[in-house]
Amino acid sequence: MSLFELLKRLSEAPGVSGFEYSVSNIIRDELKNHVNSIQTDKLGNLICVKEGLKEKPTLMIAAHMDEIGLIVKHVDEKGFLRFAKLGGISDHLLLGSRVAIHTRKGIVYGVIGCKPIHLMREEERKQLVPYDKMFIDIGAKSREEAEEFGVRVGDPITLERNLIQLKNNLVCGKAFDDRVGCAILIEVLKNSKPKSRVYGVFTVQEEVGLRGATVSAFSLNPDVGIAIDVTTSADHPEVSEHESPVKVGLGPAILVADGRRDSLAGGLISNINLRNKLIELAERLKIPYQVEVAEGGTTDATAIHLTQKGIPSCVLSIPTRYVHSFSEVLSLKDAENLVKLLTAFVEEEFSP
Ligand code: CO
Ligand code: ZN
Repeated sequence: MSLFELLKRLSEAPGVSGFEYSVSNIIRDELKNHVNSIQTDKLGNLICVKEGLKEKPTLMIAAHMDEIGLIVKHVDEKGFLRFAKLGGISDHLLLGSRVAIHTRKGIVYGVIGCKPIHLMREEERKQLVPYDKMFIDIGAKSREEAEEFGVRVGDPITLERNLIQLKNNLVCGKAFDDRVGCAILIEVLKNSKPKSRVYGVFTVQEEVGLRGATVSAFSLNPDVGIAIDVTTSADHPEVSEHESPVKVGLGPAILVADGRRDSLAGGLISNINLRNKLIELAERLKIPYQVEVAEGGTTDATAIHLTQKGIPSCVLSIPTRYVHSFSEVLSLKDAENLVKLLTAFVEEEFSP
């Protein structure tokens, strides 16, 4: 399967935080003949071990399986649903969206309803509708009927979005954060001959606080950690270049530091040797890359590097437009280049 087809399959699969099993099944299937062992831990992380020529130093590469989405919070007597958010979602992206509710009886489709413009008063037209004023219409006539269709409190909800192709090798779809990381990690595990043992860890619950990476890094206690994720690339109108210097299509980004806006607290400062090794490798192999300081967000590598006695870690990411919308845009070229860079990295000697 090409990287495009793999990304399409993973992107269109449902898997909000805590409900990643469909994604996990696809990955298990893709990798079963290509790694030495595959295990699911108690939180749902999928841990794939690929042995190298020697055991040490061990390398953990993490990519998270979960996507941002919603969860059923209440079914009212007329059969309309209220929901909570799983992960960082701007309310204004939700109105009018088509959703899939994953029930015990299968998928039930719905739409996030809103008052039509005709009924809005002048001042209402200028206001943002908060998510707790929204509801989901599944076509049910009553609570009892909604329950008959299989809908229950706690059912996960994903937004309906097929992957589409834009010009110049760009693709657009939901959950590229972080299914593109999953696709890249699958390719690296399939096609590399590691120098030493690699733990390919497809993590759960990143979007609600790096939970899967926290426990898997603790149990594996690797010598080196790398997270593959997306990074914000706002190389488009209405954002000035200095606010978002990384650009789509100019190569994967090698992270220097990330964390909260204004302080870089709560994030990662990449291990200098590891970061320099990745840069040196990209230069030597003539793989395009960008170096980045990312304000406003973090990744699984943050949880990994604070595990046990401290683990030298770095992030490799794919520049992505409209991150955490349900129509993210990235370049397949960047993804292919990251596969190349990471494959070369696992095949070379590196000691932290
Ligand atoms: Co995210
Ligand atoms: Zn992510």
